[in-house]
Amino acid sequence: MATHKLLLLPGDGIGPEVMAEVKRLIDWVNGQGIAKFETESGLVGGSSYDADKVSITDATMALAQASDAVIFGAVGGPKWADVPYEARPEAGLLRLRKDMALFANLRPAICYPALAESSSLKKDVVEGLDIMIVRELTGGVYFGEPKTITDLGNGQKRAIDTQVYDTYEIERISRVAFELARKRRNKMTSMEKHNVMKSGVLWKEVVTQVHAREYKDVQLEHQLADSGAMQLVRQPKQFDVIVTDNLFGDILSDIAAMLTGSLGMLPSASLGEVDQKTRKRKALYEPVHGSAPDIAGKGLANPVAMLTSFGMALRYSFDMGELADKLDQAIATVLAKGIRTGDIKSEGSTVVSTSQMGEAILKEVQALYA
Ligand SMILES: NC(=O)c1ccc[n+]([C@@H]2O[C@H](COP(=O)([O-])OP(=O)(O)OC[C@H]3O[C@@H](n4cnc5c(N)ncnc54)[C@H](O)[C@@H]3O)[C@@H](O)[C@H]2O)c1
Repeated sequence: MATHKLLLLPGDGIGPEVMAEVKRLIDWVNGQGIAKFETESGLVGGSSYDADKVSITDATMALAQASDAVIFGAVGGPKWADVPYEARPEAGLLRLRKDMALFANLRPAICYPALAESSSLKKDVVEGLDIMIVRELTGGVYFGEPKTITDLGNGQKRAIDTQVYDTYEIERISRVAFELARKRRNKMTSMEKHNVMKSGVLWKEVVTQVHAREYKDVQLEHQLADSGAMQLVRQPKQFDVIVTDNLFGDILSDIAAMLTGSLGMLPSASLGEVDQKTRKRKALYEPVHGSAPDIAGKGLANPVAMLTSFGMALRYSFDMGELADKLDQAIATVLAKGIRTGDIKSEGSTVVSTSQMGEAILKEVQALYA
């Protein structure tokens, strides 16, 4: 059986509390011989600053580069509000993304039937929702040059951000999205603004070419990003996989996230290029939520987003879809039984702590393997 190397970076705030529930699952999986995970742990964010005066050390970066997947908790908190800008907690995460060249950000939005009532949209619009937003993460307007504010000398200033994409960047992100669509419901929607942006014209052209060359079996649809945003709240279940650039992806994935209720439920993955020699790709998995300093250390955090982030690692780094499916099923069962952390409680539910939630989910996974 292959050994999978994991680097666990719990980070700050509720990070270590929710990571402990992933560790519990890994220990059980290893003990049962279902898989063989070798784990190392490291510091990142404020906890790394406290120990080493940097948000991530070179040694931890080297461990990340050597791992098959990084499992990341969350960073930040008021304690580090005044640390030097380059050592701020978020810089650790940004360095991981940059040095590992993680260009594809996957944000699933799944609405568990038991939580359909907690969405701000009507139950029938979101119940059973399962979409995947694929956002380009290393290019576009957040990184394009020039990026300046110039004093025009007449009491005015001019700010410039540059939206720039090369063909290869659009090709590789659309391939990630087409591959995902093939494993899901075989439909992909590409979103851009070709009506007003040159980068949108190229985006649409390249996605269309990649489709014609390599993925004719997948149903491809193009939508303008603004009307796509509207469709996401009007009729979200029409989508399967959505691929879009860095800026639109930032906004569209947050819209999709809120369709599903709590931040404590949302996982994400960031993937790099496939290495031609090893056929593996660099990858980092993390919940969408932050370090939640307001509830940290109290056993109140919902561990589901962290656990489903690990579930994404099982699917996309280790081809262990069966265990990932069982984990999802276990979570759905626990929620259906009314076992909830405080953030997703509803009338009649039993409110439990972080570790009780983790235990309850593991118990359901165990039952599925019994
Ligand atoms: N990727 C990251 O590490 C990341 C992402 C976002 C924010 N942050 C950082 O986290 C800190 C707090 O930021 P914020 O308050 O804006 O966002 P947050 O996601 O930490 O918290 C927002 C709200 O959601 C609640 N919440 C979040 N996760 C939860 C969970 N698992 N279970 C139950 N409730 C949960 C929190 O209690 C809070 O009320 C800041 O320092 C911010 O910079 C880090």
